[in-house]
Amino acid sequence: MSPTTLPAWQALIEHHRATQHLHLRERFAAEPDRFQRMHEELDGLLLDYSKNRIGEDTLNLLCRLADEAGAADLRRQMYAGGKINLSENRAVLHTALRLPESAPPVFVDDINIVPQVHAELNRALNFAERLQNGTHTGCTGAPIRDVVNIGIGGSDLGPRMVAQALAPYRQNLNVHFAANLDSADLDAVLRRVQPETTLFIIASKSFRTPETLLNAQAARRWFLQSGRSQADIARHFAAVSANTEAAAAFGIAPENVFAMFDWVGGRYSVWSAIGLPVMCAIGSANFRQFLRGGHAMDQHFLHTPWRRNIPALLALIGIWQQNFCGSTSHIVIPYSHGLRRLPAHLQQLDMESNGKSHLRQGSPADCATGAAIWGEAGVNCQHAFFQLIHQGTQTIPVDFIVPLRGEADDDGRHRHLVANAFAQAEALMRGKSEAEALAELAGSSLPQAQRAALARQRSFSGNRPSNTILIERLTPYTLGLLLAMYEHKVFMQGAIWGINSFDQWGVEYGKVLAQTILPELNGAPVAEHDASTAALIERYRQHTASQP
Ligand code: F6P
Repeated sequence: MSPTTLPAWQALIEHHRATQHLHLRERFAAEPDRFQRMHEELDGLLLDYSKNRIGEDTLNLLCRLADEAGAADLRRQMYAGGKINLSENRAVLHTALRLPESAPPVFVDDINIVPQVHAELNRALNFAERLQNGTHTGCTGAPIRDVVNIGIGGSDLGPRMVAQALAPYRQNLNVHFAANLDSADLDAVLRRVQPETTLFIIASKSFRTPETLLNAQAARRWFLQSGRSQADIARHFAAVSANTEAAAAFGIAPENVFAMFDWVGGRYSVWSAIGLPVMCAIGSANFRQFLRGGHAMDQHFLHTPWRRNIPALLALIGIWQQNFCGSTSHIVIPYSHGLRRLPAHLQQLDMESNGKSHLRQGSPADCATGAAIWGEAGVNCQHAFFQLIHQGTQTIPVDFIVPLRGEADDDGRHRHLVANAFAQAEALMRGKSEAEALAELAGSSLPQAQRAALARQRSFSGNRPSNTILIERLTPYTLGLLLAMYEHKVFMQGAIWGINSFDQWGVEYGKVLAQTILPELNGAPVAEHDASTAALIERYRQHTASQP
């Protein structure tokens, strides 16, 4: 059912009409306790959502919308193993990956999957530990020094981001990631490692992704051309997949194949054996802390009323911004070098989940669904696209993520980072009136008319919304909290929009067309294409033919 038919949706349309003239400056001036009422905390994570164009009445209507959309029931079904991924007839149980071993049973097709989760987790953690402590050596008896993860999408973005964010927790293994079909990606890694002391992880839930298989074959060629034998493959290649037969067929020793479950989507899978490179990097104890953070957020999301529920508030306010205030994209700015790849991970998490235009039952969506997600580490973004965010014609809501304490030995620069984050959010909210901008030019020698013109250029509309998410510092636990928070935000928005957030048919069509074009680039007869595609293919063929 489309949410636009719900009474709360209609009430929100009216509410927007009645309140859109209010400026956030006015709201803060009239509500000295606004921050007090509009922030939530969980285990050191603080969400300040007071700089959004909302009042208590807005929030009440949004919570009513969540209830009318049946979000709580879909949430219950998800946690209980219901097959809410309708088009693939699958359960959606990334939450089960972070359940403690003692958790009550969760059944998928009458099988309690909690023991399976922990059996596979322990297998992967033990393997990582054997690599770390030198028990698992390479074919010459030398210990493994480098782990190379070959995967793409959810088999790369999540583990790469987490490994990078938790670099301060790295132990004695170097971990590298290669994803792109551009050979420069994997080549750059291979130049930095030695065959005898390298382990490759072929990470692919389907074990059918061409990009990953081509890179895996290139890595295997590189390994064998270095003089190692086919028999040595067993000690230098591992795989993580739901398709264990295909992994074995590639030549991976069965003891080095780690299972993924079909009820975990790729973009939600870093908590599974797909997190093997992270386990190799930071070790078992830290990985389990990461899981604990995710589980803490799961419990919060499951048991907290919408009005105080951190992922639900992010989701509902995002819907308010998009479906009623007209935003079309959302920016995530981690003021943390360690989290610089978080926006890239959230792009897949959010846009591959909610970039849908049909409802769960198949009827066309009649409201905007998934927003375009983008972002960059702060303060870098202030020197890149913040001009548009402050003075552009479109309002784009921002999530500022700010660790209160930096990771590196700090010489005071971290305080500058935090000051910038807070200042950007304040500037977006307050703006600067023309009168204020003109007052700043009081001492200028410019003629009055030019000062007035300049004041207009230097004024800021403000009233630009943002959330600020504080974490005390970037630890495995807080990263788990943060990641699960966004996963549940995505779930909540999809639940309210009435779409299936857990399939991804949109990524298949291009792949199929690529299989048609590939042989044509190689000289095969060119099939029926539009004039543009045909011309591009022809240009490639001419270029290739002209090369020596
Ligand atoms: O992007 C499409 C997709 O199927 C993602 O959902 C997935 O994370 C990625 O490709 C890689 O898939 P696999 O892990 O099966 O190689």
